[in-house]
Amino acid sequence: MAETTKTAKLTIDGESYDLAMYAPTEGPEVIDIRKLYAQAGVFTYDPGFTSTASCDSTITYIDGEAGVLLHRGYPIGQLAKESHYLEVCYLLLYGELPSAAQLEEFETLVTRHTMIHEQMHNFFRGFRRDAHPMATMVGVVGAMSAFYHDSTDINDEHQREVASIRLIAKMPTIAAMAYKYSIGQPFVYPRNDLDYASNFLRMCFSVPAEEYEVNPILARAMDRIFTLHADHEQNASTSTVRLASSSGANPFACIAAGIACLWGPAHGGANQACLEMLREIGTPDRIPEFIERAKDKNDPFRLMGFGHRVYKNFDPRAKVMKESADEVLELLGIENNPTLQVAKELERVALEDPYFAEKKLYPNVDFYSGIILDAMGFPTSMFTPIFALARTVGWVSQWKEQLADPQLKIGRPRQLYLGAAQRDYVDIEQR
Ligand code: CMC
Repeated sequence: MAETTKTAKLTIDGESYDLAMYAPTEGPEVIDIRKLYAQAGVFTYDPGFTSTASCDSTITYIDGEAGVLLHRGYPIGQLAKESHYLEVCYLLLYGELPSAAQLEEFETLVTRHTMIHEQMHNFFRGFRRDAHPMATMVGVVGAMSAFYHDSTDINDEHQREVASIRLIAKMPTIAAMAYKYSIGQPFVYPRNDLDYASNFLRMCFSVPAEEYEVNPILARAMDRIFTLHADHEQNASTSTVRLASSSGANPFACIAAGIACLWGPAHGGANQACLEMLREIGTPDRIPEFIERAKDKNDPFRLMGFGHRVYKNFDPRAKVMKESADEVLELLGIENNPTLQVAKELERVALEDPYFAEKKLYPNVDFYSGIILDAMGFPTSMFTPIFALARTVGWVSQWKEQLADPQLKIGRPRQLYLGAAQRDYVDIEQR
C-alpha cells in the first residue's frame, strides 16, 4: 500500500472525519474511504466507478487526458513498435523486461502448452455451428477447469503459474477452433516452430488440403494487435475478473467471466459493431445521416469506435493501429476498399464536428483494428475473440497480482437503496 501523504476532511452535519490520502506513482491522489461507513455510517455513491479506485496495482497506468498508456512504466507506442507480444506478456506478468535467456525460456514454455486436451474437441462439437465464437469461448474457457483440474488451486503458487501459462498458450488454439468449427472446417493443431501470431494465423486459415504460408507482414500486424490489446488497467472485463476472483473462484472461471463481460458492444464487442456500422453506412454520402443519428439524444445509435471512458484526448493505441492498418492494406493492395473509404471519411467528418470535439470523442483502438482484421480475412464475429485472446495476459496478470495482495477481500459493493421501506406482507385476498 502507498504511503499516506495528507488527510482529507469530510464534514457531515457539523461532524468532521479525517480520511487518509495516498500519492500514486502517476495520476491523481486517492482518498481512503474504507473506514468511512464504520466511522460515519455513510456510503459513497459512484455508479460506473468513474471516481473510485477499486485496488492498488503496479501493472498498467493510463492518463486519459494526455493519451498515455504505460505497461510497467513503458509507453505502449514503444512496446508496439520495438517489442513483441510474448515479451510484453512477460513484462505484464513478471514486472520487468526479460533477459534474452528468460525470454527464450518463457517462449518455450508458452509454445509447449498450446495444445488443448483432446477430449475438449468433443466439447466444441456440442455447440451449434452458428454459435457466436464468443459464446463458444465463454463455454470452453470456463470448461478448462474441468479439463485442467490440477491447476485450479489458487492457494498453490505453482498451480497459479501453470494456469497462467496454460491460459495464455491455449487461448489462440481455442479462438481458432471456435472459428474453424463455425465455418465447418477441421480443427488445425498448433505448430511449435511458429511464433505466437503466425501460429494463430495458421490455425485460423490453414486447411489440410493446402499448406498455409504465413506472410510476415500480416504476422507482425497480428502480433501488434495482440500487443495493443494486452492490458488496459481496471476496465470492465478486468474488474469482472478481479471481482470473480475475490470470492476464491478458480482461474478458468474468472477468465471466462472476463470474456463474457468483454463481449458487450460498449467494450470488446465494439470492433465487430464498428465494422458492421461502416458496412451499413456503405458509401461516404450517407455519413451525415449517421452523424446526425449519433448526435440525436432520442436515438440510441452511437458511433461505434468513437469515445472512451478514460481517454478524453486520443487513444494512444489507435495511433499505432492506424499505421498498422495503412501497412496491411497497402500490402494487400486494398487501399481503395469501400469500407476503408467510409472509415476515412467518417473519421474526418467526426473530428471536424463540434459535437464530437466538445465531448472529446476520438477514434478508439477498435475503429482501426476491425479494418485490419477484415483485410486479413477474419469475419466480424472473430474480432472480439481476438481481443479476448490478446487481453488474457492482462486478466491473468491482474488476477495474479490480486491473489498476492495481503489486503485481498471479497468484492462487495454497497448501494443506494430507493425501493419500498419495510412493510408488512398482505394476504392475497386483501390485495
Ligand atoms: N457516439 C455518440 N455519442 C457518444 C459516443 C459515441 N460513440 N460516446 C459517447 N457519446 C456521448 C454520450 O451520448 C454522452 O453525451 P451526453 O453528455 O450529452 O449525455 C457523452 O458523449 C459522454 O458519454 P458517456 O456514455 O457518459 O461516456 P462513457 O465514458 O460512459 O462511455 C463508451 C464510453 C466507450 C462506452 C462510449 O464512448 C461508447 O459507447 N462508444 C462506442 C463504443 C466503443 O467504441 N467502445 C469501445 C471502447 S475502446 C475498447 C475497450 O476498451 O473496450
